[in-house]
Amino acid sequence: MIHLAPTDRLFVLTGAGVSAESGLPTFRGAGGIWRTHRATDLATPEAFAADPQTVWQFYSWRREVHETCKPNAAHTALAELERRMSGRMYLCTQNVDELHERGGSQRVVHMHGELFRSRCSARCGREPFVDRGVYNALAEVPRCDCGAIIRPHVCWFGETPYFMDEIFRMLEQATVFAVIGSSGVVEPAASFAGMARHRGARTYYLGPEAPANATAFDRWFEGTAAELVPRLFSL
Ligand code: OAD
Repeated sequence: MIHLAPTDRLFVLTGAGVSAESGLPTFRGAGGIWRTHRATDLATPEAFAADPQTVWQFYSWRREVHETCKPNAAHTALAELERRMSGRMYLCTQNVDELHERGGSQRVVHMHGELFRSRCSARCGREPFVDRGVYNALAEVPRCDCGAIIRPHVCWFGETPYFMDEIFRMLEQATVFAVIGSSGVVEPAASFAGMARHRGARTYYLGPEAPANATAFDRWFEGTAAELVPRLFSL
């Protein structure tokens, strides 16, 4: 069990594994997206500049798959934990999916962006906006008011994740840090466990396989997110 005292502040970081039981593929495991698709062709600014149609087809496919998925027991248990901890829990996700929100979480920090938002590719200053569109041909992709093509509001390789100042502040305050379903290879998220532990937090990993950054955790709970999350946290 992970015991949470009334004074504890919990930082939860989720990865693709938390959504696996909802039917969304992970990136690196068996059936993972990067096993059959090259990240450099689909998830970099250079790939988008060279071939925006292929990149939009990839994100359109992911939007379509997502529409068929529902939150699982891990998402709903985290939403319940947020309610019970009243302000002492911080949920940060590397996932671009919206299953935490659909599971009832009120405050979700999407450090790698959101699948159902788009933004101007030319940084004209327009804020990212809600976009559930599916664009398989370049001619279908909307243009920003400034004339530039729009792009997915997703952090690609070589780009800086979002909300980093706030995330580092919350890591400093955390007394308990838990990662659910992340392979621990993508930075900067892979270093959060070590940072939290260095500041004195208890650190836990929940997932079926040991992550690459396993030495940063005090304890690994072996199992799937939907099995573990609903029964592991006690208040
Ligand atoms: P990965 O695909 O790298 O890792 C998923 C992890 O989830 C693996 O360690 C699996 O063991 C675990 N897992 C699989 N099924 C699970 C289940 N049912 N319950 C719990 N865990 C399970 O995904 P991430 O670590 O999230 O970035 O990937 C990090 C980033 O790499 C992603 O955000 C994405 C990707 O490239 C961007 O798109 C910028």
